[in-house]
Amino acid sequence: MKTKTFLTGIKATGMPHLGNYVGAIRPAIQLAQENPESLCIYFIADYHALTSIRNPIQYREYVYEVAATWLACGLDPKRVVFYKQSDVPQIFELTWILACHTPKGDLNRAHAYKAAIQKNEEYNKKDLEHGINAGLYNYPVLMAADILLFDTSFVPVGKDQIQHVEMARSMAQRINQTYKECLVEPQEHIGKTPLISGLDGRKMSKSYENHIPLFCPEKRLKKLINKVKTDSSDPGEPKDTSDSIIYEIFQCFANPEEVKDLEKSYQEGISWGEAKALLFEKVNRELSPFREKYDYYMNHQDEMDQILENGSIRAKEIADKVLARVRESIIGF
Ligand code: ADP
Ligand code: TRP
Repeated sequence: MKTKTFLTGIKATGMPHLGNYVGAIRPAIQLAQENPESLCIYFIADYHALTSIRNPIQYREYVYEVAATWLACGLDPKRVVFYKQSDVPQIFELTWILACHTPKGDLNRAHAYKAAIQKNEEYNKKDLEHGINAGLYNYPVLMAADILLFDTSFVPVGKDQIQHVEMARSMAQRINQTYKECLVEPQEHIGKTPLISGLDGRKMSKSYENHIPLFCPEKRLKKLINKVKTDSSDPGEPKDTSDSIIYEIFQCFANPEEVKDLEKSYQEGISWGEAKALLFEKVNRELSPFREKYDYYMNHQDEMDQILENGSIRAKEIADKVLARVRESIIGF
């Protein structure tokens, strides 16, 4: 029987935030625990961060922050193949092969590129391509290589990444139809958790700087939660759950009974201050056991180096086999 392979990555652009945790990290770790027969491959997409990072000290720091986050949240490196992307050069060879089979027009339609163009429009830039490097433009091709190089069947990601997985799937289909079939066509695996909003109501994202980092000290966590945008209703006035960011995040960290209690309190006119205090309590309850582990790994970067190196050895073994099959099919060597 063929084993299912789950693969996902987190871009190393800073300490992961609550959105990354509920949308990607927590479900991926649960999948690994609930599917003991499957192959799980979770990695740090550090070269993806090179589209924007311009400082090697910061680059390294971000890699360790993402690595320590995965490990603190329960990733078991004996169970999961865990590595950093830049340690697996086969990915970049497949990137080129895929790029040569990808219509340029498909990349014009990718969300991240379109968003960058739109931002230039908003700022009235004469050159709409201002500040957009070819790495950002080719981002979906590199991500497709990350996925296809490991015969991935399912990619656990948040909703915002669906387009990227669809692009990877269509690249695989195109190649399979042109040559002897050599690539597995992956599916996105979208968890139950919706995309959560950040402090200002837009999607929580490092790029919008509206995020709540996972492992900031408790005091700062409290402060940030207090900054979450609310409507102007006074204490005593009933509150609407449907457009409340506090309620939305609360649901991701509380059990169903606690959610029901909060709904009741909303009807009864809980003050925003109290609601924020409850949210802090639930988020902190889940994260505080991980915080210590996170600090441990951040103080033992040599241990993380060893874990990532071991993971990259396993990753390269798989990658070599798949790449040999792809090369044979496409270039005949
Ligand atoms: P960011 O937007 O902060 O740069 P990434 O693009 O690195 O985050 O996302 C890493 C993973 O976390 C992806 O699977 C993505 O779908 C998920 N994710 C990102 N933001 C959120 C969010 N606000 N809610 C739920 N999941 C999210
Ligand atoms: N693009 C993803 C993000 O921004 C990160 C990523 C890179 C990824 N390569 C991947 C996710 C492969 C899943 C599979 O979140």
